[in-house]
Amino acid sequence: MSVEARAVDVRFEGSVLDHLSGGRAAWNVVTSTEDSEAQNFGLEKQRERGNRYALADEFLKVVFGLWDTWEDDALVLNRETNVVIDPSKVHPLNHEGEHFRVRGPLNLPRPPQGYPVIAQAGSSDQGRDFAARWTELIFTPQPVLKGAQAFYQDIKSRAERVGRNPDEVKVMPGALIIVGESEGIAREKEDLLRSLIGLKSPQALLSSMLERDLSQVPSNALAKEVLASREVQGMQGHVDALAQIAEAENLTIAQLAERFSHSLTFARFAGSPKQVADQIEAWFRAEACDGFIIRPSYLPGSMEEFVCLVVPELQKRGLFREEYEGRTLRDHLGLKRPERGSWVERAPMAHSEPLRKVSA
Ligand SMILES: Cc1cc2nc3c(=O)[nH]c(=O)nc-3n(C[C@H](O)[C@H](O)[C@H](O)COP(=O)(O)O)c2cc1C
Repeated sequence: MSVEARAVDVRFEGSVLDHLSGGRAAWNVVTSTEDSEAQNFGLEKQRERGNRYALADEFLKVVFGLWDTWEDDALVLNRETNVVIDPSKVHPLNHEGEHFRVRGPLNLPRPPQGYPVIAQAGSSDQGRDFAARWTELIFTPQPVLKGAQAFYQDIKSRAERVGRNPDEVKVMPGALIIVGESEGIAREKEDLLRSLIGLKSPQALLSSMLERDLSQVPSNALAKEVLASREVQGMQGHVDALAQIAEAENLTIAQLAERFSHSLTFARFAGSPKQVADQIEAWFRAEACDGFIIRPSYLPGSMEEFVCLVVPELQKRGLFREEYEGRTLRDHLGLKRPERGSWVERAPMAHSEPLRKVSA
């Protein structure tokens, strides 16, 4: 299946999901990192990062352009006049770019949310540029408060630089939650979960993320020295997060590998409901996030515990809604329904050609 066909498919599926769900769809845009993934798409090796994001940038232009081929009131559905669609309000896209040539139009009205919510998780320099330009929900590995504040500020200012309202870009670090009715119960859970890991070689796990064979590195070597400004072709965001943990907690390679094995690179909030809510509130008030992607520490059970023990505490503090604030996912995220073509005015990413105007 050609890359064009995939762009059309994604657009179709995203739109269908948004129509079927009454506006609850989101799309996690991933550029993928592994050769094994690229080999599913007719490639031998994964593209290098810059190319991945250049392709993704044009891919998004095609997908947004196709979602915009119908004006919001193109669907008439008038039983008296038997007019279903106003053809003057459905337009071809005629996109011709470096990677894609797509005529359009779509065979579906514009999605209820205008566009499904766009999520993304790349945190490298190019990943941040791409996020600032296209994304409304950024899932990011930020294990340390100071690093999370810096990432938050950076993303918001990049969004402003491309002409967006920074409130329209929600930064949501992943957070691993271990909560118990009391601190003691939470600690017991923590110890039990750790005891269940039993990784033969935590270093092996770390090696794959760092794209470096750590078997030759003494396990008591200081991790921050081993990771200093490590550039990888894979997930730079995770590697930067590991360097932050290594620096903040002064860990050896063995200790960092063990930390990675039970919490990956995410923030970790453990304790009683009040203690977990305190940590969440502290990050929120410190402008380190707009919210969190809650990672289950075990399944089933940990998500229910979060909802039953921590959410009521956050509601008491006015930090979480008591009632639904609307019908669509955008309503819940505090995002407005974007105008048709509102993305076109955004300043181009450093390496990409200017956006094409939406045909009237
Ligand atoms: C927290 C997080 C979650 C991710 N989730 C997915 C995923 O669900 N599917 C996927 O293909 N890639 C996923 N990725 C990979 C990213 O989408 C991205 O391709 C990769 O991290 C490269 O980004 P970089 O620009 O930071 O190097 C994830 C990455 C991170 C950091």
